[in-house]
Amino acid sequence: MPQIAGIDFEVPLVLAPMAGGPSTPELCAAVSSAGGLGFLAGGYLSAERLAADLSRTAELTDRPFGVNLFAASPAPDTPETRARLQAYRTRLVESGHPETLLPDAPLGTDDSYAQKLEVAASSPAAAVSFTFGHPSSAEIRDLHAAGKAVVLYATSEAGIRAAAASGADAVGVQGFQAGGHRASVTGVDIADADAPDPGLTAAELTRLAAGLTRKPVLAGGGVATAADVRALLAAGASAVQVGTRFLTAAEAGTKKTHRTALLELRDRETMLTAAFSGRPARTVANDFARRHGEAAPRLYPQLHFLTAGLRGEANAAGDPENLNLWAGTGFAACREAPAADILAELAGR
Ligand SMILES: Cc1cc2nc3c(=O)[nH]c(=O)nc-3n(C[C@H](O)[C@H](O)[C@H](O)COP(=O)(O)O)c2cc1C
Repeated sequence: MPQIAGIDFEVPLVLAPMAGGPSTPELCAAVSSAGGLGFLAGGYLSAERLAADLSRTAELTDRPFGVNLFAASPAPDTPETRARLQAYRTRLVESGHPETLLPDAPLGTDDSYAQKLEVAASSPAAAVSFTFGHPSSAEIRDLHAAGKAVVLYATSEAGIRAAAASGADAVGVQGFQAGGHRASVTGVDIADADAPDPGLTAAELTRLAAGLTRKPVLAGGGVATAADVRALLAAGASAVQVGTRFLTAAEAGTKKTHRTALLELRDRETMLTAAFSGRPARTVANDFARRHGEAAPRLYPQLHFLTAGLRGEANAAGDPENLNLWAGTGFAACREAPAADILAELAGR
């Protein structure tokens, strides 16, 4: 039975936190109730909404679950940042995207990190994980004092070493194949925002982590089948983290156009692009990513807010070419089913 800092769960599968809609209390609770370890995503939610989602999840399951927070430092608001944003905005307008959907000066925010940390610490969640940055040692101590296990993610050898040396209870590794944004920490996994995303696969990172730390390793990225799960467990993972396969779960809050694209655009490749958010993220290849990926400045989360209106409009219009279709390399295996069935399939049951 997998264990992370005293949290026992029966099936060695972790539901990846998926911000932007897919992570619902219903999805998280369904995975935990079926024996896996569900995670809620705190990113982009208000602190109040996160608190409500955490309470709702605890009402839906009596099994443990976790919550994920964004610990990103926004790109600083300098004249240079503004000029690069304006240039990208102009490019989008000149490419035919409606100017009215593109805010003039989208600001960077820290995603209300401090408030959400307080919410997480006093919530029913058993574990707290961090994306894009690391909490301070004092914050980890406070979470431990509140009875929470702490998970830090890594996408490189340096990241694994940093997570292993921290007070965290488990190290999560996210391979190159992973859908959406990976948790690459600037200054640790990547030198700066413009550095390429580390190219190590889930299996490579798992073997590295298993060799570098005795802490439990959660491994994910591109996991599509029970054989993929077995391979990462054999490489040394204590549990395997899966996101994309749950995007088409009945309980997921995945946007309709995203869900349909995962099921209908199976022949497409996935690609990494910063075009939607200002940080590299893996999407099903589409027009927007292909046209604007090269030109997109690495300004997160400003680009996320710049493109939010365009993406909302594309979703409403059923247009998969101008929407972020986050997906890992195994997305063609997606099928619509209750989360418990997807979990059982991945567990080989
Ligand atoms: C739609 C979507 C949203 C995601 N949001 C988050 C997030 O909020 N926090 C996070 O740590 N990782 C996030 N990820 C990445 C996952 O944690 C994980 O690395 C990835 O889903 C694993 O690869 P897979 O999607 O191929 O299973 C997201 C992934 C997807 C597909």
